[in-house]
Amino acid sequence: MSNKEQTQIYRERRDRLLGQLTHGIAVIATSPMRARNRDSYYPYRFDSYFYYLTGFDEPEAVLVVVAENSQGKSEQILFCREKNLEREIWDGFRYGPDAAREQFKFDSAYPISELDEVMPKLLANQSTVYTMIGHDLAWDTQITGWINRVREQTRSGIAAPDMLADVRKILDEMRLFKDEYELTLMRHAAKIAADAHRRAMKHTRPHLFEYEIEAELIHEFRRQGAMAPAYTSIVAGGRNACVLHYIENNTRLQAGDLLLIDAGCEYDGYASDITRTFPVSGRFTTVQRDLYQLVLSAQQAAIETVQPGRTWNDPHHAALVVLAQGFSDLGLCQGSVEAIIESEDYKRFYMHRTGHWLGLDVHDAGEYKQAGAWRELKPGMLLTVEPGCYIRPADNVPNHFWNIGIRVEDDVLVTPQGNEILTATAPKAIMEIEELMYER
Ligand code: GLY
Ligand code: MN
Ligand code: MN
Repeated sequence: MSNKEQTQIYRERRDRLLGQLTHGIAVIATSPMRARNRDSYYPYRFDSYFYYLTGFDEPEAVLVVVAENSQGKSEQILFCREKNLEREIWDGFRYGPDAAREQFKFDSAYPISELDEVMPKLLANQSTVYTMIGHDLAWDTQITGWINRVREQTRSGIAAPDMLADVRKILDEMRLFKDEYELTLMRHAAKIAADAHRRAMKHTRPHLFEYEIEAELIHEFRRQGAMAPAYTSIVAGGRNACVLHYIENNTRLQAGDLLLIDAGCEYDGYASDITRTFPVSGRFTTVQRDLYQLVLSAQQAAIETVQPGRTWNDPHHAALVVLAQGFSDLGLCQGSVEAIIESEDYKRFYMHRTGHWLGLDVHDAGEYKQAGAWRELKPGMLLTVEPGCYIRPADNVPNHFWNIGIRVEDDVLVTPQGNEILTATAPKAIMEIEELMYER
């Protein structure tokens, strides 16, 4: 796709936002640069809402979308950094307002240094300001300051906005349904992450450190042009897999243990999110095999429910039914499947939900319930399906299960016919994993 076609997509998203602002003005800032120490900065990552509407990846930028300006027309405005040849020698290219307006299809553009001067003019006689309320308190204060500046002019007959609305209410719903361009990017992010998991399996051996495997993941992400991991990779050998957010990745891998890897990359802003669990030395033990097959069956049952017309909670419930039956068969829980689910006894071994929306953010925008009911799945929605099982030492648990943590996670698109698994090339069947590791 050409640059021109890409920027048209962003313009059309702003048009769609405009269509939903019956009146008023939306003001959305990108993320600030963040210092890591003194004058060293973290790699820059734009704000997801801002990027979704602009495709503009420089820091210090603000998008303003006006439903009706003083001439009665809609207007799409960008504030951004000015050209600065001195700074560009040190930090690299910046568009500057004129080129940015042209390239990114805005109606007008101003230097960011003029924001405080121009915003009170743009807010004059607007009724509602749509912004991300409470996302950044300094930003809330800045907006209030501009509104106060307008209010100072009331004796000249100028009205100040009297309503604040959260623009995310509109944008979350737009972001929930991925368009074809987003799907192209997400399929690519998924493919890179699947390759990274294969690479990790091929490189895993007893006595390596978890961080050595993390390095293989990062190697594959960057080699294929992903900008960064989409979140800090979890590389958890043995008992570490029972710590859900384990990110230290600094333990030596032991023969006979499982290795749980939860890692995905970010490609042009879009996340992939995959978990695989496999034996450090290449073959599952009997008890590992039983538990792994249980989690895999729960995941398969959950994925089958990812279809138009089903609801958000169906994959979770389908996974719970399989897991509860398995926990009962293995003697980990007592009673019927219904009783184990009703009493939530399964939570001793499975304490998280089975997925989340996926997109620009790894836990992406979008409501899970509407009017109190789990929302219906529709084509274009993209979610993860990630059941697991985590068994910590406990008196009432046979000790051959202790310290086993397993999760299997894929990224699944709802399609008109059913679903598409974007991450299907990351091996997960027991035979497939053992064969791939045997080939090492
Ligand atoms: N990697 C984050 C998650 O699975 O939700
Ligand atoms: Mn996930
Ligand atoms: Mn994950």
